[in-house]
Amino acid sequence: MNILFDKEKGIFKLDTENTSYIIALTDEEKFIGHVYFGRKISDIDVSGLMRIDENPFVPSRNNRDRGSFLDTFPTEFPGCNVGDYRESAIEITDLNGHNCVDLRYQSHRICHGKPKLEGLPATFGSVQDCMTLEITAVDPVISLEIILRYSIFEGLDCVVRSCEVVNRSTDSVFVKRLMSMSMDMDQVDYELLTLNGSWARERHICRREIGYGKTGVGSTRGESSHQEQPFMALVSKNATQEVGEVYGFHFVYSGNFLAQVEKNQFDSLRIQMGIHPKNFCFEIPSGKSFVAPEVVLVYSHEGLGAMTRTYHDLYRKHLIRSPYKDKKRPILINNWEATYFDFHTEKLIAIAKEAKKNGIEMLVMDDGWFGYRNDDNSSLGDWFVNEEKLPGGLSYLVEEVNKIGLKFGIWFEPEMISPDSELYRAHPDWAITIDGRTPCRMRNQYVLDISRKEVRDYIYSLLSAILHSANIEYVKWDMNRQLCDLGSLGLPVANQGELMHRYVLGVYEMQDRLMHEFPNLLLENCSGGGGRFDPGMLYYSPQIWCSDDTDAIERLSIQEGTALIYPLSTMGAHVSDCPNHIVGRTTPFETRGHVALAGTFGYELDITKIPPEDRAKIADQVSDYHKYNALVRTGDYYRIASYSENHLYDCYGVVAKDKSEALFTYVQVMNGANRHSRRIRLQGLACEKRYRLEETGEIFYGDTLMRAGLHIHNMWGDFQSKLLHLTAVEG
Ligand code: GLA
Repeated sequence: MNILFDKEKGIFKLDTENTSYIIALTDEEKFIGHVYFGRKISDIDVSGLMRIDENPFVPSRNNRDRGSFLDTFPTEFPGCNVGDYRESAIEITDLNGHNCVDLRYQSHRICHGKPKLEGLPATFGSVQDCMTLEITAVDPVISLEIILRYSIFEGLDCVVRSCEVVNRSTDSVFVKRLMSMSMDMDQVDYELLTLNGSWARERHICRREIGYGKTGVGSTRGESSHQEQPFMALVSKNATQEVGEVYGFHFVYSGNFLAQVEKNQFDSLRIQMGIHPKNFCFEIPSGKSFVAPEVVLVYSHEGLGAMTRTYHDLYRKHLIRSPYKDKKRPILINNWEATYFDFHTEKLIAIAKEAKKNGIEMLVMDDGWFGYRNDDNSSLGDWFVNEEKLPGGLSYLVEEVNKIGLKFGIWFEPEMISPDSELYRAHPDWAITIDGRTPCRMRNQYVLDISRKEVRDYIYSLLSAILHSANIEYVKWDMNRQLCDLGSLGLPVANQGELMHRYVLGVYEMQDRLMHEFPNLLLENCSGGGGRFDPGMLYYSPQIWCSDDTDAIERLSIQEGTALIYPLSTMGAHVSDCPNHIVGRTTPFETRGHVALAGTFGYELDITKIPPEDRAKIADQVSDYHKYNALVRTGDYYRIASYSENHLYDCYGVVAKDKSEALFTYVQVMNGANRHSRRIRLQGLACEKRYRLEETGEIFYGDTLMRAGLHIHNMWGDFQSKLLHLTAVEG
């Protein structure tokens, strides 16, 4: 890892282990050009790639065609309305109502370590771990400064970018668009890969051509969303798990985002990622600044798999802060699918007792314990224990559960308010609404305006009081609707466009407080399943509920898309009852266990009621969890086959960093008549090591297993699965 600056030529070069990122300044005007990002190269001066020696030339040589120049110049951070008609990275309105930004290099700084992004989640690292380049660009006419930040990490092929706008003028400016990164590059027949879906089928992998004009994904829902993930990758047409070029871009933010590629008249691409400009207008008063969230750029010349492993390592080492990130999580049982709202202390205790007998370690009480919430029509905001359901209150229940030998966890939805709640009757103005309009309900609830400090403080104080009232060791923080009717009584008329971002900052502030006040609390974020599964939330919680769809087969595609960029240790995954509550499918209990092992692992069923033959299998699943979790949590992930592509079977695995052990999971989704056994070529093993397959005792060299493959015999029935555990043997 190193960051170089060639002073004479005005060139910056950031080198990671296998990649280079090069930025160059033009001689006189000091435009900041993007030269190269890709596989590591040795030369620093490749600024010819910017084509400034070709027509229409830099303005200092041919000012007659300044517009043409700016419209094609590969820039690091395009201003606006000065001749570049591609998308701007920044748009502002100054006091005169003008919207021009023309940025030129002013200064730079290279340092070890990485500065914090105030109020925002961000990757972090020590002075040994990472290095940062800050380039300051200015528009002297409006006294606007932009600091472009780039950090690189030891041993990881990624560049993390963000920016800050500083208003040095004497009046406020309003930022209407601010991308955290922009990058121009030649089109080399890349395709666009994104993760799309909906509630209960989040993050399905989707690959498409990049045509002329603009294409991309985004969210304007106030959260990163079930529908589109703040991620995109440009992949060469031949890219598979093991070969091809891949450029990944992932946004460390939990609100509205835009991820876009623009292909222009010369077949070059402008890639941008940042807060979605829709409904965004943020005032920067004189002397103040605005910090944009960061984007993680990962380049791989060895296919998608290498990109995946870089994201996993970066997030595990440099994004998740929770002390749990390196620890085995307690196996939990959650009562949501077991009881929904219909529970009371005795029922929970009965579940806890049976759970304990089977090796489960924590009971999580889900929605319905507060106010008079017996369905989803009331009480959000009234975070007071319903003593009719829980006589003796929380402390009695938690003590009893602890006596049984289980930890206790609880569900909250702190950002919401039910129209039928004491809180709403007392503070109707605390909901995000517009005066004179009938506010839109979703799941019969409104969103609390947590951009307002008094609202945040009130809700936080209730949450904190509950957590202090009993020995609660886990919180599931839910968020079950998206934002609309965007009006805040906490903001002046001119600043209403700040609401969506301030809302997200409010969530971050509350979760930060929670982490500091309860440093040992295990926090799991959630949003109607996986509607806010993003790197921003991972900064606060080491795990996120992946999807409300717990069906093992539906989960294959959801977990495949999620694991493309997120470590397995972050994916909330549970074994639930059948027929599955979302799709009505019945799958074998073993398969449900095998699929859930690829995540945090837990149960979401009434253990007192499931068939005894299923219950009898829990002990084995629990022992598998203890046996494999360290490997699953810390190892390298390999995707072998994808059910979403072949519609027949799925296979993925985790290999220990030192290659001494591996666990592959094979799921035969559909059986077929009269078929050969399937040959699976494994990945990630050491060629020269010999591995023993636990199931059969056979021993093979790694190269045999990877090049020739392993036979998987057909299993009887659909939805069958098996674990293939390999351990390296001596000699
Ligand atoms: C969301 C969550 C579920 C459950 C319910 C409770 O849908 O994703 O797991 O907690 O809310 O209302």
